[in-house]
Amino acid sequence: MNTIHISYDLLEDDHLLKVLRQHSGHFVLLSDQKVASLYAEPFLAFMDAEELPCESVTFSGGEKSKNRRVKEEIEDALFEKKYGRDTLLIAMGGGVVTDIGGFVAATYCRGIPYLSIPTTLLGMVDASIGGKTGVNVKYGKNLIGAIHSPEAIFMDLSMLSTLPDQEMLSGSAEVIKYGLIADKAILSMLRENLTPWKQRDLDLLKKVVKECARIKKKVVNHDLKESGERRILNFGHTIGHAIEALEEYSFSHGEAIAIGMVVEGLIAMKMGQLDEKDFDDLYELVQLMGFPLTLSSRVTTEKMMETMQLDKKGEKGEIRFVILHGLGHVNSYKGAYCTPVDQNLLDEALGWMVAECVK
Ligand SMILES: NC(=O)c1ccc[n+]([C@@H]2O[C@H](COP(=O)([O-])OP(=O)(O)OC[C@H]3O[C@@H](n4cnc5c(N)ncnc54)[C@H](O)[C@@H]3O)[C@@H](O)[C@H]2O)c1
Repeated sequence: MNTIHISYDLLEDDHLLKVLRQHSGHFVLLSDQKVASLYAEPFLAFMDAEELPCESVTFSGGEKSKNRRVKEEIEDALFEKKYGRDTLLIAMGGGVVTDIGGFVAATYCRGIPYLSIPTTLLGMVDASIGGKTGVNVKYGKNLIGAIHSPEAIFMDLSMLSTLPDQEMLSGSAEVIKYGLIADKAILSMLRENLTPWKQRDLDLLKKVVKECARIKKKVVNHDLKESGERRILNFGHTIGHAIEALEEYSFSHGEAIAIGMVVEGLIAMKMGQLDEKDFDDLYELVQLMGFPLTLSSRVTTEKMMETMQLDKKGEKGEIRFVILHGLGHVNSYKGAYCTPVDQNLLDEALGWMVAECVK
């Protein structure tokens, strides 16, 4: 698996130059318009100064752009520039850019190398790591894609200073998730440093992002094709995805996952796998982080059940959950990391969620 470089200034990172100099063909910078407006100019000037001429290709960005049509437009832009197999694509942006950019790289001229430069917290701790690339189709999210890993991943933490608060919060849900499934120390680091975290203190970001990236990399290395351990990364997502669907995607992914983690934590508690104190700590951290934890009346226990049945992680009609085993660990059931849950217990947990969150 590729190397991850974390810095406070990408253009001062010697590793970047080293990786770029290993490449002898064309360079193209792919980003969305927002990221390009902030970071393309200095990057292109840096490339020029190093005599590594690079051109920029942009698209409008956002989840709605992560589709086959935009992929084709990006490919056409590369063909028009007469770029061939000797092209290094540099995907700079959030998860949308690294997902679609990685997918373009996977198929363009039967595959070209690419670098990932994630610029959102979610991109740094999650989307850029693991080689999953792809686009959405009207039948669902990420249903067309490929596993294609970047040559290297470069994270410049200072880029998070321009990230909107809502996006920072969304990425924070995944950070809490890593703490819950794999490393309790992340939870204390956040709990004890909430203000510096919200102010994007660079040293704190470095510690936390590095640890989250290490966990994701380790899990993915063990299980590239998502047959077993990788499923622990879905903690909070069975409930979270159903909430996103019922709320018609008016919620940020992170807000939905935050509620999902609380409810799935409650399920673990009801199964005797999590102490009440640990559950209270989890719930408190999610609240202190600033997640609204409110749902509309569209969300009912019955609708949640129906929606979860449709989720792709339901196997043979069974809804499965990743079950915490204390904070910082998950349970493995006979080698599988997700398990069906007793219907009465699930109804109780969903009933609690509706009573607590529907306003
Ligand atoms: N491949 C994977 O393993 C994986 C894992 C998790 C999520 N994802 C995917 O990631 C996507 C979500 O990624 P995201 O949350 O990064 O969203 P995003 O890429 O849409 O970025 C969010 C917004 O932030 C802006 N932005 C990005 N960086 C910025 C910066 N430094 N300063 C200011 N604005 C900035 C973007 O222009 C965009 O408007 C989803 O499509 C999801 O499916 C993929």
